[in-house]
Amino acid sequence: MVFPRSSVQIAALCLTLFSSFIYFLSSGSSDPSSTTNLKNRIPGRYLYSPSLNTNIPLSESSPTAPSSNLPSVPIEEPPNDPIWDIQNATLGFQKIYAISMPSRTDKRDYLALMGLVSGLEIEFADGVNGSEMHPRSFPSYWKGTVALGDYGVWRAHMNVYQNMVQNRIQSALIIEDDADWDVLLRHQMVEFARGTRAIQNASLPMRSPYGDNWDLLALGHIGANNKPNKDQKYWVTQNDPTVIAESRRTWTRKPDVSTPKLAGDHTRIVMEISKFTGAAAYGLSLRGAATLLYDQALLPNAQAIDVAMLALCRHDPYGSPFCLGAYPMIFGRYRAIGPESKDSDRRASSNEAAAGSGGYQNSNERLQAESEFTVFSTSLNMWRLMKGEWVLPSCKPETDLQKEVNLSSFVFPRGQEVLVRPEEYRDFQMALAEQRKKDEVAKGQQAAKGEHAEVKKDGVKNVKRWVA
Ligand SMILES: *[C@@H]1O[C@H](CO)[C@@H](O)[C@H](O)[C@H]1NC(C)=O
Ligand SMILES: *[C@@H]1O[C@H](CO)[C@@H](O)[C@H](O)[C@H]1NC(C)=O
Ligand SMILES: *[C@@H]1O[C@H](CO)[C@@H](O)[C@H](O)[C@H]1NC(C)=O
Ligand SMILES: *[C@@H]1O[C@H](CO)[C@@H](O)[C@H](O)[C@H]1NC(C)=O
Repeated sequence: MVFPRSSVQIAALCLTLFSSFIYFLSSGSSDPSSTTNLKNRIPGRYLYSPSLNTNIPLSESSPTAPSSNLPSVPIEEPPNDPIWDIQNATLGFQKIYAISMPSRTDKRDYLALMGLVSGLEIEFADGVNGSEMHPRSFPSYWKGTVALGDYGVWRAHMNVYQNMVQNRIQSALIIEDDADWDVLLRHQMVEFARGTRAIQNASLPMRSPYGDNWDLLALGHIGANNKPNKDQKYWVTQNDPTVIAESRRTWTRKPDVSTPKLAGDHTRIVMEISKFTGAAAYGLSLRGAATLLYDQALLPNAQAIDVAMLALCRHDPYGSPFCLGAYPMIFGRYRAIGPESKDSDRRASSNEAAAGSGGYQNSNERLQAESEFTVFSTSLNMWRLMKGEWVLPSCKPETDLQKEVNLSSFVFPRGQEVLVRPEEYRDFQMALAEQRKKDEVAKGQQAAKGEHAEVKKDGVKNVKRWVA
C-alpha cells in the first residue's frame, strides 16, 4: 500500500488539531474530580506533540515498515537448524492465531499494530459468544460452574484446534487478544527453544525449532508448577533482564525453586509443567491439538479450557511431558486505558448477569495503559517502535534489572542445562517431613481408637476424569 504524502500531512494536521482540542478540554476543566469526563483526567503526556509525528518513517513511494528496527538475534547453531526459523514472522510456529471477538474491533486494532511493530503475522480466530451457541452443541457433561462465558471461551479455543486438525497445522502459537510481549521476544524464544530441546533430548534433524516431541508450550500463563518430586532437567537463564522481579509476581501458583540452582530474582527457567493457570498464550503441536479435541469433545471431560489443559499436563497421555513452559511467563497482558470492564468478554456473555449489564459491573477506570508481566513492553513502547527508536525503557524501572535496553548493542544472556534431584529442593523436603509427621500422628490416633487404618481417597469428586 502506498501512502501519498498528502494523506500523511493531513493525518499530522488532524493529530495536531485533535491534540489542541484535547488540550483545550483538559485545561478548561474546572472540576478535576469529575467522573463523567475521562478526557479531563488523562495526564497531559498522552497528547501527541505534532513534532513527534514528523518522524514516522514513511517515504513517498515505499513506506518503510516501522518494524525495520527489529534487533537481530545472534544464533550460533548450524544453518540447517530450524532454530533460525524463530526469526520468521510466526516465531518458528506454522501459524499464530489470536482469538478475539469480531465485535472487539478495538482489540483487533491493537493486535494489528502489535504484529506490525514486532514483524509477526497474526491470524484472527473468531471468539465465540456463549449465548449464541446452539444448545445441542454444548458439551453433554461439563465440570465446574456453568457460565456461558466459559463455554464461549472453550468453544473459541476448540475451533482453533479443529482448524489445526483439519488443515494439518503442525504447530501454532495461540494468543488471546490482550496479549502483550517484550520487544526482545525473539531473543526470549530462541533461549526458550534451547530449553525445550534440552528437556526433550532433541537432536538434529528436527522439524520444529522447539523440538519434535512436545504437545503444549505454556508461554503466557498466570502461574505454573514444576515437578520437584522427580529428577528434573531445567534450562536456567540467570540475569535475564526480561524477567519480572518477584515483587511483580502477584499470582499464587508458583514452582518450587527452593534450590540455589533455580533461584534468583531475574532467573527464567524452562521446565516440565505439572499444572498451570491461564491460557493467554501457548504453543500447541498438531498432536497437542488433536489430544485436546479428543479429550474435550469425545470424552466427557469438557471444562474451562485452561483447566482442561492443566488436566492433560498432569496426565502426560503420551508418556513424555505434555506441557513444557517458561517461568516466569514470556507473554504478558495489555491493559488499555479506560474502563476496566472492557478488559474481558468472558463475563460479558455470561448468563449470570442481566442482559446488557453482564461484564460491566466493574466500574474502575484506568488512567494509564499498563502491561502486566512484561519488562520492555511492546504495547507501552509502541510509539517509540513506530518512530524506529532503539533505546526503550522498561515498565517498572524500580524493580527491573535494567531500566532501558539498547536494541542495537544488547546481548541476551545464555542459559544452561541444570539437573535437579528431589533432595535438592529445601521446600519440598520440608513439606515431605511435615507430611510424614502428620501421617505418624494420624496413625497413632487411629491405633488409639482401635480403628482400621482406612485409606481415604483424596479429593472425592462426583465426576471422575476419564482417561483414554
Ligand atoms: C516459520 O518457521 C516455521 C518452522 O519452520 C514454518 O513452519 C513456518 O511456515 C514459517 N513461517 C513463515 C511465515 O515463514
Ligand atoms: C532424556 O534423557 C535422559 C537420560 O539421558 C532420560 O532420563 C530422559 O527421560 C530423557 N527425556 C526424554 C523426554 O526423552
Ligand atoms: C452475546 O450475545 C448476546 C445475545 O445475542 C448479546 O446480548 C451479548 O451482548 C453478546 N455478548 C458479547 C460479548 O458479544
Ligand atoms: C546504542 O548502541 C549503539 C551501538 O553500540 C550506540 O552507537 C548508541 O550510541 C547506543 N545508544 C545509546 C543511547 O546508548
